[in-house]
Amino acid sequence: MTERRQSIHGEWSSRLAFILAATGSAVGLGNIWKFPYITGEYGGGAFVLVYLACIAVIGIPIMMAEVMIGRRGRQSPVNTMRTLATEEGHNPLWQYLGWAGVLSGFLILSFYSVVAGWAMAYVPRVASGMFTGTSPEKVASIFGDLIGDPERLLAWHTLFMGLTMIVVSRGVRSGLEQAVRILMPALFLLLVILVGYSLSAADFASGVRFLFAPDFSKLSWEGVLVAMGHAFFTLSLGMGAIMVYGSYLPSHASIAKTTIIIAGADTLVALLAGLAIFPLVFSHGLTPGAGPGLIFQTLPIAFGQMWGGAFFGFLFFILLSFAAWTSAISLIEPIVAWLVENRGLSRIKATVWAGGITWALGLGSLLSLNLWQDFKIIKWGILDFVDKLTTNVMLPLGGLAIAIFAAWIMSRESTEDELAIENPLFYQLWRFFVRYITPVAVVVVFLNAIGVIQVGKG
Ligand code: PFF
Repeated sequence: MTERRQSIHGEWSSRLAFILAATGSAVGLGNIWKFPYITGEYGGGAFVLVYLACIAVIGIPIMMAEVMIGRRGRQSPVNTMRTLATEEGHNPLWQYLGWAGVLSGFLILSFYSVVAGWAMAYVPRVASGMFTGTSPEKVASIFGDLIGDPERLLAWHTLFMGLTMIVVSRGVRSGLEQAVRILMPALFLLLVILVGYSLSAADFASGVRFLFAPDFSKLSWEGVLVAMGHAFFTLSLGMGAIMVYGSYLPSHASIAKTTIIIAGADTLVALLAGLAIFPLVFSHGLTPGAGPGLIFQTLPIAFGQMWGGAFFGFLFFILLSFAAWTSAISLIEPIVAWLVENRGLSRIKATVWAGGITWALGLGSLLSLNLWQDFKIIKWGILDFVDKLTTNVMLPLGGLAIAIFAAWIMSRESTEDELAIENPLFYQLWRFFVRYITPVAVVVVFLNAIGVIQVGKG
């Protein structure tokens, strides 16, 4: 093969460090905030099944492709795509795929930071015992008061972006590894405790039935699209975040194994969140389809009733904020890496630019919850619109293009060399998936969701 490139930004200290950072990127609000509420909105079991299938059939092959491309190019996604395309004798315009990812990153982080602000805002609220013994109605009104107050939201959004910028400006490798190593297992443990609470004190059987007993009559093509989009969102795929992390991966690390570990951990966290939340939903007569406020209206009820609830609640929202933070970092890393490579900016300057733009964009999402409530794009407020546009359209299309790049633009020799999978059968399988299965699956779901063709029910 050609001489292996080196990243000017350095490398992770080990394979484990990469696993931690990539899991930090994958596990976030998507698992704990979004997965339960979209599962509730789109009918439960059947939706969960489609989501799991998308992780296996689309998510894992694309994650392998992204890490592989990143490590091969060893630069920001924009430069990596340009370099690899040229090297393989193709058009350098592929770099625009990198730019599309940069745009997705800005847009996602703009609303992600606002929602992360809700999680942070709940830290002092639960800790103060505000929810102790309160009724579900009161819990819902506390959430309503928060999102109805632009000034408070602004303070939390600004704080969250500030914290994100601090880590990014110092370089994602210093500090992040250590923190993820401790806090991720802690978050996991807390979720297990919450599931334990739901098992003992809430309607666990109904929760499990809702999550795992598929009722396909409740599933629409729109639901399938949302499940697919979520598979991209939750694994941080389709925009270059995992690609840029892959560009810091040591050469000898196995891409296939690491990918499976990351996707497995991510899925487990989402399912645990679902198992903690839905029993509470049913035992308190709440609606599963309550929307984006779901976890903020259900978990505080549990914290208000369980032994040591103020303490566990406090820990939970800290860890949720932390999980959001480690994801946010990966959302602006691609553009920061590009600014450093191409504009010669210091990391600090690059971060201030990228973070500043994201912060400003976030104001639109923030105001759409209150002062601009009546302003709609098609039928959604800004936050919902940006979320749906990125998750259900931009990430799947980005992922589709990445699969095409890995399978049709890069030569078999390059991908085989970079993936270095020991078992040739497994490599064949990956290549078959990214060449045919993944692209066809994405296109079929899309076409059906927009109603161009109707396979099965609409
Ligand atoms: N995977 C993150 C989550 O589930 O919260 C969100 C995310 C991070 C999406 C990074 C996309 C991304 F590139």
